Amino acid sequence: KTIQNLSLDFSNITALAPMVRVGTLPMRLLALDYGAEVVYCEELIDIKMVQCQRVVNGENVLQTVDFVAPDDRVMFRTCDREKDSVVFQMGTADPDRALAVAQLVEKDVAAIDVNMGCPKEYSTKGGMGAALLSEPDKIESILRKLVTGVSVPVTCKIRILPSLEETVSLVQRIEKTGVAAVAVHGRFKEERPRHPVHCDYIEAVAQAVSVPIIANGGSLDLVKTNSDIEEFRKATGASSVMLGRAAMWNASVFRNQGPLPVERVMEEYLKYAIRYDNHAFNTKYCLCQMLRDKVESPLGKQVQAAQTNAEISNAYGLQQFYQQTQEQLQARRDALQSSSQP
Ligand code: FNR
Repeated sequence: KTIQNLSLDFSNITALAPMVRVGTLPMRLLALDYGAEVVYCEELIDIKMVQCQRVVNGENVLQTVDFVAPDDRVMFRTCDREKDSVVFQMGTADPDRALAVAQLVEKDVAAIDVNMGCPKEYSTKGGMGAALLSEPDKIESILRKLVTGVSVPVTCKIRILPSLEETVSLVQRIEKTGVAAVAVHGRFKEERPRHPVHCDYIEAVAQAVSVPIIANGGSLDLVKTNSDIEEFRKATGASSVMLGRAAMWNASVFRNQGPLPVERVMEEYLKYAIRYDNHAFNTKYCLCQMLRDKVESPLGKQVQAAQTNAEISNAYGLQQFYQQTQEQLQARRDALQSSSQP
């Protein structure tokens, strides 16, 4: 019997937005540390995920749950700490495949989200992402299938449609499927991230439905500090707020107590990346996003030249932390090995 009231509530929360390459485990844990209540993983494509094997803890020195592709790549890594807060976002255009993926991960995540806003060609050419926005029947069948097929809440993330009326009626239709929330990125499909966000569209939607609306798209012009989050929520009349770029640049934007210098944030990020054996290319990518205009500074150049997490650690003077972490992991590996001996 499932206990419904233990499930994640999407009203009045602040969330880390799904971001390809950015939203891997280290960034999600960092966002939680700083005060985000909900953290979305990067979009993962259903076709890749259905081929994955779930590899549990215990056999696993890192104490994570990994979803590993046939080529041994870890597609999705998660851990206990985020179990009640992590939302698994998938790219899909197929109800059956979506359900198969959702059932594969549902024990390990707090909710399942479907990406209906990505305007990039790799997403839309398969009928996924923003391509779904013009296929409401398909949206409905994917969401209904998920809502009835898994025991965790299901959400989706959309962009706005060409008119207020169309946007509102789409979300009303989505609401009827039984989703737990809808994240609304207040930009049209063809708009770029630098265009201003349309708060009036988010507001119209929030007024028309009772399902929690998560306002998104405010990072560039509206949300720069923690108190701006509440302003953005008010300006959109939404229940909740989701931050992408503002969090990518400095995740301490989630801190009520005020921001931390980005140098400190990069250090804390790197510690998680080391602890959870994050892929070095991914670690580098995220640090370069945080360095922003300092990416050509001496530190930035060192980060760009590094090939391993060990080399990145040197750039930040974290050699000792790196070494100690490796020793701890080795000790755990040894202990697991000796306990499995007859
Ligand atoms: C994104 N965005 C995005 N959206 C999504 O639904 N799934 C994804 O995987 C990604 N990936 C992604 C990567 C990067 C690097 C960026 C900057 C953005 C869009 C993101 O979730 C959000 O909707 C926009 O960034 C607008 O919100 P902000 O940045 O103004 O808070």
